[in-house]
Amino acid sequence: MPSRRQFLRSAALAGAAVPALPALRADAFQVLARAAQATGEEDYWGEIQRAFDLDRTLINLNNGGCSPAPTHVLEQMIRDLRFSNTLPVEHMWRVLEPRLESVRRDLARAFGCDAEEMAITRNASESNLTMIMGTDFARGDEIIVTTQNYPRMLSGWEQRVARDGLVLRKLRLPTPVPSDAHFVQQIAGAITPRTRAIEIMHVNNVTGYVAPVRQVVELGRTHGIPVFVDGAHAFAHFPFTRDDLGCDYYGTSLHKWLLAPIGTGFLYVRKERIPALWPIMGGAEQRMRADIRKYEEIGTHPAANHNAIAVALAFHEGIGAARKAARLRWLRDRWARALLAEAPDRVRLLAPIGEGVGGAIGVVTVAGLDMGKVYGWLRTKHGIVATPLVNDEFNGLRVTPNVYTTPREIDVFTEAMLAVIRKPELVTA
Ligand SMILES: Cc1ncc(COP(=O)(O)O)c(C=O)c1O
Repeated sequence: MPSRRQFLRSAALAGAAVPALPALRADAFQVLARAAQATGEEDYWGEIQRAFDLDRTLINLNNGGCSPAPTHVLEQMIRDLRFSNTLPVEHMWRVLEPRLESVRRDLARAFGCDAEEMAITRNASESNLTMIMGTDFARGDEIIVTTQNYPRMLSGWEQRVARDGLVLRKLRLPTPVPSDAHFVQQIAGAITPRTRAIEIMHVNNVTGYVAPVRQVVELGRTHGIPVFVDGAHAFAHFPFTRDDLGCDYYGTSLHKWLLAPIGTGFLYVRKERIPALWPIMGGAEQRMRADIRKYEEIGTHPAANHNAIAVALAFHEGIGAARKAARLRWLRDRWARALLAEAPDRVRLLAPIGEGVGGAIGVVTVAGLDMGKVYGWLRTKHGIVATPLVNDEFNGLRVTPNVYTTPREIDVFTEAMLAVIRKPELVTA
């Protein structure tokens, strides 16, 4: 049994990145919890937890797919939906829709771009597919992606391969990615005189790896190649701005880490690039060529959903991007360190962890365990919802807590995982 001092030393070291992991015993997370309570942090997060109407009979550790919105965000949307429905053409089109301009202004400020570079979309798919479908390419032009890019984006590229004769160069990178330098070198090595675009994920949804976007954008710029950044998992997850990335194109969902209502996203396009990027639904008129609003021409849609983004943004900024990121990392490291300490030879994380690294997403593999089965066992025996990631590259379980996740919920998950690591027959029998 380690001493209390050893526990506290381990807690203090909890910020180190994975390779320098201290030998932390599984029960050390109780010390971390006591330390947090002692500072009053848990009182603060208790208030945040109560901002959501949730079903706590299940433990939701799949916020990466889609997150619930806080109750007051949902209420604003419902109020606006009801108001719209009383006389849609007047209330929705004339009263509520123009308020999209405030959302544009607020999101642009948060992302660090001009409001005239910010389009409000329904999700990251719409934003990213606008880049993929809206760019002029010629037969034989080459596009660089990785095998782990989000499947919907890959299928967009595949359509352009089938329809326009593009050539898709899919890089299969090692998991975990050994280093940022390796990531950039692999992309650099795939560039040829025919390369016309590179598409990368800011945060890899299947490993949690945060890509060195700025370096890839600079690499692209030296070759005159646009870099499309899929930021579905990054915006409002941890702090950064457009200028930290230097990118010309960025697409994200807002129903993941901003906690906005389902069906919200944004597309950023640098001003000079807007005229050449076509909207998906048509917009050839001259007056629209350089207007970011051309990407919002999607036909009749509710104003309520996108207007509620403003409430979600205020909630996010009320917490503070840095404080939120620190909490999400703390929740991730709480379970991840306990698992690593239990079986360092069998447990592996697919991206680095530690203070200041990544965000809430942690993906774990355990030698001898099929995570598809573990997922089912967690769901049925323990009421825990996580995400199985079983493919030809790895067999992992993705765990994504959120700001409303309690330390106790993390510990229930941790205890279940420790049990199955110790006794794999719990799921293999
Ligand atoms: C990396 C990445 N890109 C794009 C998407 C698509 O997001 P949405 O379904 O909100 O359009 C996701 C969704 O999980 C994602 O993880």
